[in-house]
Amino acid sequence: MLGEIERLKGDLSTELDAVGDEKTLEAFRVKYLGKKGLLAGLFGRLGQAAPEERPELGKAIHAFKTLVEESFGAKRDGLSATADAARAEGLDPSLPGRVPWRGRRHILASVLQEIVEIFYGMGFSVADGPEVETDYFNFQALNFPEDHPSRDLQDTFYVDDDVLLRTHTSPVQIRYMQNNPPPVRIVVPGRVYRNEAVDASHAAEFHQLEGLYVDNNVTLGDLTTTLRQFAHEFFGPDAELRFRPHFFPFTEPSAEADMSCFGCKGSGCRICGNTGWIEILGAGMVHPNVFKHAGYDPDQVTGFAFGFGIERIAMLRHGISDLRLFLENDVRFLSQF
Ligand code: DAH
Repeated sequence: MLGEIERLKGDLSTELDAVGDEKTLEAFRVKYLGKKGLLAGLFGRLGQAAPEERPELGKAIHAFKTLVEESFGAKRDGLSATADAARAEGLDPSLPGRVPWRGRRHILASVLQEIVEIFYGMGFSVADGPEVETDYFNFQALNFPEDHPSRDLQDTFYVDDDVLLRTHTSPVQIRYMQNNPPPVRIVVPGRVYRNEAVDASHAAEFHQLEGLYVDNNVTLGDLTTTLRQFAHEFFGPDAELRFRPHFFPFTEPSAEADMSCFGCKGSGCRICGNTGWIEILGAGMVHPNVFKHAGYDPDQVTGFAFGFGIERIAMLRHGISDLRLFLENDVRFLSQF
C-alpha cells in the first residue's frame, strides 16, 4: 500500500495540470476527496492492514490527504483569481462562447468555379488577359470595323483614344492565339465594363466567360454539342438550348442561344416574358479575319467561340432578380448561398 500511495502522489500533479475550470476541478475533488473517493478507499483499507503496519500506513495516508487538500485549495484559489481578473476587465468566463463567424465564397465565385469545372471536364483550360485593353484587341482585331454600329452596343470607359476598359472577354481570344499555336481549347473568365445606366439588369461592370476552340476540323456541330453538354451539367438534364441566327463581327455564322425557361419549362411565364425561352449566350464560328489578326492561317484551322455573362447564369440558376445585389456585398444576400 505504501508503494501505491507513492504512485498516487506521482499522478497527482499531472491530474491537477489538466484541471482548467470549475467543472474539472469538481471532478478532481470527487475523485480524490469524495465519499467514495481514493482517500476514503485508502482509509477503509487501513483497518484491514496488519496491526504493526497501521501506524506507519496511517501516517502516510494522512500526509497524502494533506497534500491533496492543499493542492486542491491552491488550484481552486488560482482559478477563481483568474476568473476575478477577467471579470474585472468586463469579461465573464462563465458565459457560453460565441460561434466564430465563418466566411464563404461569393456567389459569383462559386458559380464561376462550377462552370470552370464543367469545362475542365471537357478538356478546356483557363486563360486570362488584361481588363485595361487597347482598341486594337477589344475591337479591331475582332473584326469590328471602325465606325461600325456594332461598336455602339459596347460603349465603355476610355483612358485615352486607344486605351479602354475591355467591354468583353473576347480580346483574350486574340492575345491567346498570338502566343500559342493551335490547337486551342480555352475558357476565359473575367471582369468586363460597359458605359451603362445601372438598373436591375444592367451594370457598368460585370463578368463574362469566353470560350474558344480551334483545331483542324471544328464544326458548328461541335459548338452546339459542347454548349448543350454545359447546359445539361449546369442546369440539369431538362435544360434545352435553341440557337437563333445573330450577328457578331468576330464570328461567321453567328448565333445567340436561348435556354428553355426554368420557371415554366417552356409554356410561358413572367420570367421569360411569355416566350418559354431565355437568352443566355452568344456564339459562332471564328471569323477568318480574326484568325488573320491572331497569326493563324484560316485555310488551315477552324474554330468556334462563345461568350456569356456569369451574373446572368447565376441569376437564372438561383432565381436572383437584381444584378446590383452581386456588387453590394450585403451579407443578408450573400449568406443565402
Ligand atoms: N463578346 C460578346 C459580347 O460581349 C459575346 C460573344 C458572342 C462572345 C459570340 C463570343 C462569340 O466569343 O462567339 O456580347
